[in-house]
Amino acid sequence: MSGMEALEAKGRLERNLPLGPLTTYRFGGPARLVVTVDGADDARLLAEVLATEPAPVLCLGRGSNVLVSDAGFDGVVVRLGPSLNAWSLQDGLARTGGALPLPRLARESARLGRGGLEWMTGVPGSVGGAVRMNAGCHGTDTAEWLETAVVADLDTGAVSSRTAGELEMGYRTTALGSRDLVLSAVFRTVDRPVEEAEAQIREITRWRRENQPGGAANAGSVFKNPPGDSAGRIIDSLGLKGLRIGGASVSERHANFFVAEADASAQDVHGLIVEVRRRVAEATGIVLEPEVRLVGEFG
Ligand code: EPU
Repeated sequence: MSGMEALEAKGRLERNLPLGPLTTYRFGGPARLVVTVDGADDARLLAEVLATEPAPVLCLGRGSNVLVSDAGFDGVVVRLGPSLNAWSLQDGLARTGGALPLPRLARESARLGRGGLEWMTGVPGSVGGAVRMNAGCHGTDTAEWLETAVVADLDTGAVSSRTAGELEMGYRTTALGSRDLVLSAVFRTVDRPVEEAEAQIREITRWRRENQPGGAANAGSVFKNPPGDSAGRIIDSLGLKGLRIGGASVSERHANFFVAEADASAQDVHGLIVEVRRRVAEATGIVLEPEVRLVGEFG
């Protein structure tokens, strides 16, 4: 049986699946193929498929940091299955599946009297996505708490455990590429009274409501912060809050968040990214680098 047949028999394949519902922006066209990987065996089968039928790959977590083109993605989208959604606590270490939502890990860990991960309540992504891009907020990041991650190399099918040091984690960057799938990760936690950890989580939630757009569709920070400054501060200082292209606009609450109305297209958001980047470069000489991952072709 070929890798493709084996994955098909396990019910792991979906063709022409619209990606909008899998992302926080909620728009974007379909993927040629979506593969659900529910463990190392599936990852090996997928590597076999990719070896015989080469295609671009997108490993998708909770879709909170991507902009998928209206035309979709002519490649293979990889999602993690339900058995990688769990976590357990052992000797102060949080052993987490790659699909686990970070806010859930933060809350459940706090409830068990284990702190350190409270900041994750402010990041609406998954463990896998956080490891891949070294997500962070409130003065800390994934690198600071990660012990090891189990990563499947979708080019070879090899699965290996890597230490945080081996992942070369920097500001919103790691050594992991688009064909490295994070299956699971182990995080340190610290002993912390439940009330204290929960109070911090409430404070982070309050801060986010006050400083970031809540309800409107968005994908968090659009640009990485340039060294020593904040992209939001720079965009705001140029008076660009409210700048609009089609149904997409620069958030009035935080200028590095671009919000999309229900009738917006991915092209609108992309157009806004290009325009804001152009205006910032013209005014300051700083060339902002997108933090949001752009998936597929844009005009
Ligand atoms: N600011 C403005 N105007 C704005 C937005 C911000 O003047 O419209 C100023 C703020 O007053 C503050 C400074 O810019 O003095 C920094 O703003 P903020 O504290 O909101 O932090 P940030 O650098 O914009 C980073 C992360 C966020 C994370 C927050 C909180 C990046 C690109 N973003 O934002 O992460 O939630 O810190 O820790 O590093 C994300 O990565 O998607 C994300 C949301």
